[in-house]
Amino acid sequence: MKKLLTILTVLSMTISINNCDSENFEKEKFEPFKPVISYEEAGKRADSIVAKMSIEEKIEMAGGHNSFYIKGFEQYDIPQLYLSDATQGVHIRKDLSDAMEKSVAFPCPLALTATWNTELAHSYAKSVGEECRAGDIAVLLGPGMNIYRISQNGRNFEYFGEDPFLAARMIENYVTGVQSAGTIATLKHFVANNNEYHRRTTNAIVDERTLHEIYLPAFKAGIDAGAMAVMTAYNQVNNEWAGQSRYVIDSLLREQLGFKWLVMSDWWSTWDPEKTIKSGLNLEMPGDPIMARKVFQDRGNILVKANAKRLIDECRVTEEDIDRMVKGTIRTCIAMGLYDRPVKDEKYLMNFEQHEQVALETAREAIVLLKNENSILPVKDERKILLTGYFVEKLAHGGGSAYVEGYNVISMLEAFKNEFGDKLDYVKNPSDEQIQSADIVLLSIGTMDTEGADRPFELEEEMENRVLETVALNPNTVVIVNSGSGIKMTEWNDKAAAILYSWYLGQNGNIALAEIISGKINPSGKLPMTLEKKFEDSPGYGYLPEGYDLRSDWDIDMEMDFPITDIKYDEGVFVGYRWYEAKKIEPLYPFGYGLSYTVFEYADLEVSHDEIEKGESLEVEFKLTNVGNVAGYETAQLYVGDIEAAVVRPVKELKGFIKIFLNPGESKGVRISLEEKDFSFWDAETKAWKTEPGEFDILIGSSSANIKLSSRVTLR
Ligand code: BGC
Repeated sequence: MKKLLTILTVLSMTISINNCDSENFEKEKFEPFKPVISYEEAGKRADSIVAKMSIEEKIEMAGGHNSFYIKGFEQYDIPQLYLSDATQGVHIRKDLSDAMEKSVAFPCPLALTATWNTELAHSYAKSVGEECRAGDIAVLLGPGMNIYRISQNGRNFEYFGEDPFLAARMIENYVTGVQSAGTIATLKHFVANNNEYHRRTTNAIVDERTLHEIYLPAFKAGIDAGAMAVMTAYNQVNNEWAGQSRYVIDSLLREQLGFKWLVMSDWWSTWDPEKTIKSGLNLEMPGDPIMARKVFQDRGNILVKANAKRLIDECRVTEEDIDRMVKGTIRTCIAMGLYDRPVKDEKYLMNFEQHEQVALETAREAIVLLKNENSILPVKDERKILLTGYFVEKLAHGGGSAYVEGYNVISMLEAFKNEFGDKLDYVKNPSDEQIQSADIVLLSIGTMDTEGADRPFELEEEMENRVLETVALNPNTVVIVNSGSGIKMTEWNDKAAAILYSWYLGQNGNIALAEIISGKINPSGKLPMTLEKKFEDSPGYGYLPEGYDLRSDWDIDMEMDFPITDIKYDEGVFVGYRWYEAKKIEPLYPFGYGLSYTVFEYADLEVSHDEIEKGESLEVEFKLTNVGNVAGYETAQLYVGDIEAAVVRPVKELKGFIKIFLNPGESKGVRISLEEKDFSFWDAETKAWKTEPGEFDILIGSSSANIKLSSRVTLR
């Protein structure tokens, strides 16, 4: 056994131990959500309600009501309950009578993930949960959590990046955050909904090891954290639509992941009422064909509500099947207390200012500084700044059901004017001369990604040319990217002086951007996904069926006339950095990467054991020092690499991280614990996690590509 932290001074040791207590034991400290009424108790109450209901009433409750409600029945004292999107704040539906007046537009979930700050994930989600309470919303239709497999996926902005471990840690905190406000969190979209392109007519062909190692861990973490609802996906999974698949719902979700509560379908995603009833689903959403236009053309009304009675009469399903569906919904609502207290609580309106502050904090920690030639940032006082580009007057944001309009929205122009005053000029279409004569050019570019469509990795031609021209005219160009996913930057990456990857920052995030450019805030975001040089390099390349146009839209999204096409997850577990590392393809910017205005030094790696037995945990300790001149956060990452295994495994995988604040000159000792699970892989034969004895690399880095410290341990 090696000695621990011998190199730290007595003083810093005290600090480090305090910090260890307060910051380093997140795994142990994590408290799952507990419903107000236990599963068993709620089950008994649900049984007594179901026993009183007529078959017609039960069928009525097996589907949604008025597009966004769970049906209520006054005679049984069960009120109707409102379900609302989305992960990044409350999506207000103005057509619904009790719509809220306003809701905070938070930075998108991918931005939240770029903070690597699990506490922030909790307070972000708690804020969203409280806004739900203010708006009479019982169930939040989020968090969305499909893995970033394809940079072209139009919904990546709604999700938590490419790494299952990072996503899992953020999601468990998100879930406890939302539910601590008394709002149900819905984990979605279960599962393998990793592209938007023809999402209803694609069939994800994916093996179980890949599911368990890549696509399920974030769901599992959400379930273990106590999430009380899951939404199935639009796509097929191994030849059956997820919303009516016994394999997906009963086997994967319920048996293998242990989910006990409410399972609802995505909106119009079930096609065979008999299968739907028998799949393990509780609530078919929205339950009625209204609005569904093309989806139901030529198919008639194929929903559960319209067919259940006939199916019972034909002995194809039983009344008990319907009872099971409805009981699951009622039990969940009872356990959350939704039938015993009002959902709406206006006291939460008082917290909106606090929520705005959480949104701003998130933006401050989310922005990723990708390059900073000659320390051009932060902008020095005397510089004349030219601001130009595409998202200066209007915010870039994600679209679809996740869209949140926000209020008191601060444009880049307003935020930058406030920060820089007369030093900053905004010119929409500057002349070459104006670009050349500026000390610094801030060029805003990006994409507006949306549900229902994927979008090219490459920027639109006109925008790409504008970046190329600007960086050619003025080498002091800082490119600000607002996007919900990766974009191709390869042609101008070398020529730009600095690049700030700024996601969709929500209603006040431009303040954070201005603060980072001026130096009031030191950037600390790190990429939650790999940025490839070209789309062809990525694991998802080739996912589009031959001859299909990439740009789909809402009308195409609703079309069911397309043949079902297979999306083969042939890369298996090699998603994100796992792929680039295994294939030895150098990305433009690696997973976990992000610069700071200061410099951190890593030293004194100590592992508690050189050899461990199965079941034993391993303590990994090291020292971080801020050797620069400004205070800042560093996110240190711990990766584990299996040297030799019976199956092909990734070179290394993220198994721990810690975000820590250090003043100039300050050192802190940090500790991350590893459990047996952190060394294991999913064994397809035994259908269980398996740890093989042998050697493992323990790697500590500031990104997946920048490993600062390493050690090797043997598992017996
Ligand atoms: C989306 C879901 C959303 C639902 C209700 C669907 O189109 O895929 O994420 O929750 O609509 O708005």
